[in-house]
Amino acid sequence: IPVDDFDLVIFGGTGDLARRKILPGLFRRFRSGQMPADSRIIGAARSELDTSGYRAMIREAIVEFGGDEKSDTDTLDQFLNALDYVAIDAKGEGGWSELKSLIRDKVIKAFYFSVAPSLFGDLAERLHAHEIADTDSRIVVEKPFGRDLASAQALNATLAEHFDERQIYRIDHYLGKETVQNLMAVRFGNVLFEPLWNSHYVDHIQITVAETVGVGGRGGYYDKSGAMRDMVQNHLMQLLCLIAMEPPSVFGANEVRDEKLKVIRALQPVEAHHIVRGQYDASDDAASYRADVENPRSFTESFVAMKCHVSNWRWSDTPFYLRTGKKMKARTSEIAVVFKDLGHKMFEGDSARHRNILAIRLQPNEGMDLQVTIKEPGPGGMRLIDVPLDMTFADALGDDAEDATDAYERLIMDVIRGNQTLFMRGDEVEAAWAWTDPIIEGWEARNDVPKLYDAGSAGPDDAMMLMHRDGRRWRDIK
Ligand code: BG6
Repeated sequence: IPVDDFDLVIFGGTGDLARRKILPGLFRRFRSGQMPADSRIIGAARSELDTSGYRAMIREAIVEFGGDEKSDTDTLDQFLNALDYVAIDAKGEGGWSELKSLIRDKVIKAFYFSVAPSLFGDLAERLHAHEIADTDSRIVVEKPFGRDLASAQALNATLAEHFDERQIYRIDHYLGKETVQNLMAVRFGNVLFEPLWNSHYVDHIQITVAETVGVGGRGGYYDKSGAMRDMVQNHLMQLLCLIAMEPPSVFGANEVRDEKLKVIRALQPVEAHHIVRGQYDASDDAASYRADVENPRSFTESFVAMKCHVSNWRWSDTPFYLRTGKKMKARTSEIAVVFKDLGHKMFEGDSARHRNILAIRLQPNEGMDLQVTIKEPGPGGMRLIDVPLDMTFADALGDDAEDATDAYERLIMDVIRGNQTLFMRGDEVEAAWAWTDPIIEGWEARNDVPKLYDAGSAGPDDAMMLMHRDGRRWRDIK
């Protein structure tokens, strides 16, 4: 279904995110017919480029970063014709009147701030001073949204000077992932799960986001952030919220976000011995974190594992274990809901522990499986085994699954539709920082040294102990 006609301005239009994600994603939406042919995309950045130079740059980006496999060059040419470029000075007056002349009156206007947060205020102010933005315009901002509560509050206040909350779209690209949304469909669209979704039946929940990549070329940014700020405060917290929240009365933006906020506010402070910080060390074929960030004395964590409690009626006895790290043995993101043991064993001779586990795989190989106990086939009597009821989306949905849109393109289409459900509200972001700040401050106050783990492993041994102490174990990363 096509969205309404729009003009989208991408500040930072020559940057990495624009070239890798935003423009290839928009191209796929164009190709699918969802982006109306008359819509305009205007790249705005400091570089002195002209429109044809910009189109050439984006053509290369689309060829390199995907989106082009199935299309003919005509479609790509038509898409590139929808692009303009303005060299703009965020802190001065250069380029603003030209930008104004390119924006049409009676269409949806969206402004993507793919720039450093220190420029948000300047951009917002000039969009108003030059009467480019109106009361229906939308702005899109990226993480990092602050580095602690105080800076996030300051950013929110700056944006609020010029835009209402209903106009602000704070991206957490995890919310745009297909399976993340499916999580809500599974929970609230089936009669099976919700009655069991509480401390009476759920022993614990594991959320793992393991990456094989290291910090790549982002060492400068990453070494000042670490996994807690880069991944936990946003992506893992969002996953936890969707798993733990109460069913909203309707699937509306504020109703969903109200429920997520309640979860964050119900999170108990985490005790120091319930967190393990790690940093990857060199292995045979990989450099150490410290070498990657070129900081031989870095104490920044590239791995975090923690045990959290959501202190409310539904979850009071069910711990949530979170874990994320770089340079781990496999790229896998999954949420596992581990149900309790059966109270009574009625099959003679069966001494094994059988548990139902609902594993929701975010990536790769999106899908879910439910571990159920059945009789082992054959004449051996009533011997029980656990098998997965597997739903891999690519198998179950065939071509439809392959066509699944990337997180960014889905979220940008939501911006145009004016649907804020999958975007973080200002109060949510602040509440998330309010929860993570004391953890980070504790590390800083204690000069906490992260535990080393081998690049290509499952993380530090202490992370295993975090579970073993409770008589539980992490699921394999594979
Ligand atoms: C980003 C982080 O937000 O998410 C990166 O800044 C991380 O450090 C990335 O690699 C992971 O995203 P995905 O979609 O590849 O799981």
